[in-house]
Amino acid sequence: VNQSTSQFTGQHLAIIMDGNGRWATRRGWPRSAGHRAGAEAVRRVISAAADRGIGVLTLFAFSGDNWQRPAREVETLMNLFRRFLRREAAQCARHGIRLNVIGRRDRLGLPLNSAIDAAERQTRSGTRLLVRVAVDYSARDSIVAAAREGGPVDREDFARRLGAVSHGLAGVPDVDLLIRTGGERRLSDFLLWESAYAELYFSGVMWPDFGAAELDLALQDFAARERRFGRVDMGRAG
Ligand code: IPE
Ligand code: IPE
Ligand code: MG
Repeated sequence: VNQSTSQFTGQHLAIIMDGNGRWATRRGWPRSAGHRAGAEAVRRVISAAADRGIGVLTLFAFSGDNWQRPAREVETLMNLFRRFLRREAAQCARHGIRLNVIGRRDRLGLPLNSAIDAAERQTRSGTRLLVRVAVDYSARDSIVAAAREGGPVDREDFARRLGAVSHGLAGVPDVDLLIRTGGERRLSDFLLWESAYAELYFSGVMWPDFGAAELDLALQDFAARERRFGRVDMGRAG
């Protein structure tokens, strides 16, 4: 899976898709209904991101810490991921969208692993948008795993290792804009290294209600930000 993705020249948008459970409970529905609606939102946002020329979209679907949820909820989520990959891979391939699942794979089970392999294989020639779905992903675990590889490194080497240990494609740029839905304002162990200079955007909208309109609000907000990366903005300097 280690082919260069330098063809993805657009911005890197990362989303912490939060609020499925609350969206459902507010309606008196089981949390699983929220997760199903959340999968629909993923479909909409992938298509909106492709239309807007985004280069890389990384979606936080399941964290390493989410294993601590009730077994039934975990099972619902794993089944949803498997069905989503099986259903969407052909559609993504048709639209030039490449899929890559990042995170650990050794705890996912065989059916989901084969769905991941098939989806990545089916979409590997896509160059329009790279969609990375983070499943059993922990930024801190990735950092520890990358550090364990040993040998001297600089930042670039380390970033490459970080990608490799979580089954990511090589050459993915750092996060430009990080959106979290659902009203919480925290990172919850998502892309800690890669978001060093990411612009942060927090939306109170629950993930199942997130769509093109909310995405455009975030992108407009991002467009108005001045990114300095520690430097002085030359337009305004002395
Ligand atoms: C996000 O929604 C999806 C996952 C973490 C799998 P939640 O399930 O966290 O929904 P809330 O935060 O409980 O509302
Ligand atoms: C973060 O959401 C993980 C995902 C969105 C997949 P959580 O709902 O698990 O995060 P916390 O527990 O509120 O920090
Ligand atoms: Mg949550």
